Amino acid sequence: MTILRSPSEMRAWADEQHRAGRTIGFAPTMGALHEGHASLMRAAAEQNDVSVVSIFVNPTQFAPNEDLDKYPRTFEADCALAESIGMDVVYAPTARAMYPEGYATYVNVERVTQRLCGASRPTFFRGVGTVVTKLFNAVRPDRAYFGQKDAQQAAVIRRMTRDLDLGIEIVEMPIVREPDGLAMSSRNRYLDAEERSRALCLSQALAAAQGLLEAGERDAARIVEAVRQGMAEVDIDYVELVDAETIERVARVEGTVLLAVAAQVGPARLIDNIKFTA
Ligand code: PAJ
Repeated sequence: MTILRSPSEMRAWADEQHRAGRTIGFAPTMGALHEGHASLMRAAAEQNDVSVVSIFVNPTQFAPNEDLDKYPRTFEADCALAESIGMDVVYAPTARAMYPEGYATYVNVERVTQRLCGASRPTFFRGVGTVVTKLFNAVRPDRAYFGQKDAQQAAVIRRMTRDLDLGIEIVEMPIVREPDGLAMSSRNRYLDAEERSRALCLSQALAAAQGLLEAGERDAARIVEAVRQGMAEVDIDYVELVDAETIERVARVEGTVLLAVAAQVGPARLIDNIKFTA
């Protein structure tokens, strides 16, 4: 397994693979890797000739008051996990190489970024769109793997990939959960025991909503209200039922919808969701 540190090195490796006729699978991450990331890496490794995982804590997607400085960094363990899965490259560029002096170009995806995490973190998706475009340009993947854990992010990347004719297949992988249902997240390590047990209400409220949907409930307001009640012990940021592709609010459940929640639990901002097709 090779570790590459700059866009030009990454690009040279990718060009060589394409010249040899190999397909490249790519899993972009910010490190502190867990089983959720591992599921993306395994799919990338299995479905492509060669595979790349990027580890880059992207400063442009953090607001000044957010956790950029304390975001967990576990590079050695991350490389060991990537190697055990059979990844060919860990692409870990420096912030300097990604955003040199004078950097001035950003990718803004409209509409699909307006609600949910885009409403509470106004510069977040601009940072994500920008860094993912830059990563795609260096890694030149045929397929790129994203988790449903960040369902709005996956929708934004699909929109951007279509709009900018990037010619990359975007694969969305299911949410990997702890045995008790908590969605795996690098930020779970901020939680103490009491917060960890309160955090469970996110997945539990969503599981209860899944039950309502399966029983035939189609009224968005009633479903949202039930989820809010189930999340009484945490500080809710949003509970929203939206179209899974446009991320526009819906009044009734039709087609494929996304029921998404975000909450502050102690020091951690946690998100979770379910998708349902009526
Ligand atoms: P990060 O939070 O490290 O997540 C990297 C990828 O792993 C994302 O596609 C995310 O949805 C997926 N993932 C995280 N937890 C998961 C889980 N429990 N189950 C399944 N997939 C999971 O998302 C980012 O980094 C960044 O915004 C990035 C796209 C790398 C751009 O900086």
